[in-house]
Amino acid sequence: MRILVTGGAGFIGSHTCLVLLEKGYEIVVIDSYVNSNNKSLERVIDILKSADQTVKFNIKVINLDIRDQKKLDQLFCDSHNLRTPFNAVIHFAGLKSVKDSLIDPLLYWDVNVNGSINLLRVMNKYNCRTIVFSSSATVYGIFNNEPLKENTSINPINTYGQTKAAVEQFLTDIYSSNPEEWKIVNLRYFNPIGAHESGMIGESPLGIPNNIFPFITQVAVGKRDKLTIFGDNWPTLDGTCIRDYIHVMDLAEGHISALEFLLENKNQIINLNLGTGHGKSVLELVKTFEQVNNIKIPIEFSGRRRGDYASVVADNSLAISCLNWYPKRCLEDMCKDGWKWQSLNPQGYN
Ligand code: UD1
Repeated sequence: MRILVTGGAGFIGSHTCLVLLEKGYEIVVIDSYVNSNNKSLERVIDILKSADQTVKFNIKVINLDIRDQKKLDQLFCDSHNLRTPFNAVIHFAGLKSVKDSLIDPLLYWDVNVNGSINLLRVMNKYNCRTIVFSSSATVYGIFNNEPLKENTSINPINTYGQTKAAVEQFLTDIYSSNPEEWKIVNLRYFNPIGAHESGMIGESPLGIPNNIFPFITQVAVGKRDKLTIFGDNWPTLDGTCIRDYIHVMDLAEGHISALEFLLENKNQIINLNLGTGHGKSVLELVKTFEQVNNIKIPIEFSGRRRGDYASVVADNSLAISCLNWYPKRCLEDMCKDGWKWQSLNPQGYN
């Protein structure tokens, strides 16, 4: 099986590439490196070699922006001519900052939506019609403290979420145009955190992290003074927001299960929530991090962040029943592995 992984050098992409290679898939990774580092995949190889020196891994890495229609076509054309066509695509490539998406919607629509259109155009041209798409719980938009099911209405409230919802809609239209051929899964991620247990690969955000977990690890490593918690008066048990944090390795394994689900089943389009189904508050996350790693995280409270919700938790029962998958790692594992990565790599990959 030959799989194309777009954006495979990024946080979730690199962890997924590791699992794909462990499982014996041949992979071609394309990445523009605008928000990732080529060291991540070198580290993936190091992890694999440290487990077994003798095994050969089949990975090719190409610097390619999915908006570059010509290069993308050439890649598919070459694979076709060499009689090594792609069996499927795992599509991570895209921009992911909610904040930046509000400042530069042109860029976000261009990369996330035009990039996906380019990709689907060449996939269709070269008869590769199986895709796992990296979507987000952000597409839901309406959160009423109940675990979210996949049939919850789509109503994203920021540009980033709009672009993810637009690609999901686009994929629905593509599927409808040729339901005999397409196999599509939209994976809606909740809050991926942690790192591979080796501490060799992990999240390496540029600049000040927007998300809570890399912020906590940067406080722990001394790069930032304290964590500011956005709001202490939410209608939750301790007044701080609740999220569904999922270990990035559980998420990575979810991609392989989703891929295999598509390869083994009839043509379809399906949306699946990838979360643990368990909500944890910001204070629970901080306390767990402190206990597991024996580190104090100084905190302060500020007002609520615009666009936040009290509670966002997945109903993951559909993913569990469809995929041969369930999240195995707990919050303690996420905190331990995330800190191992950050402490071994205080500057990330830089
Ligand atoms: C954010 C994105 C979401 C994306 C997800 C990826 C927004 C509105 N949503 O979700 O689109 O898919 O990341 O992981 O940005 N918090 C603090 N202090 C901080 C940072 C965060 O208290 O410095 C709190 C937030 O208020 C929130 C929780 O931590 O309650 C999680 O925040 P974050 O990591 O940014 O994730 P989400 O907002 O859930």
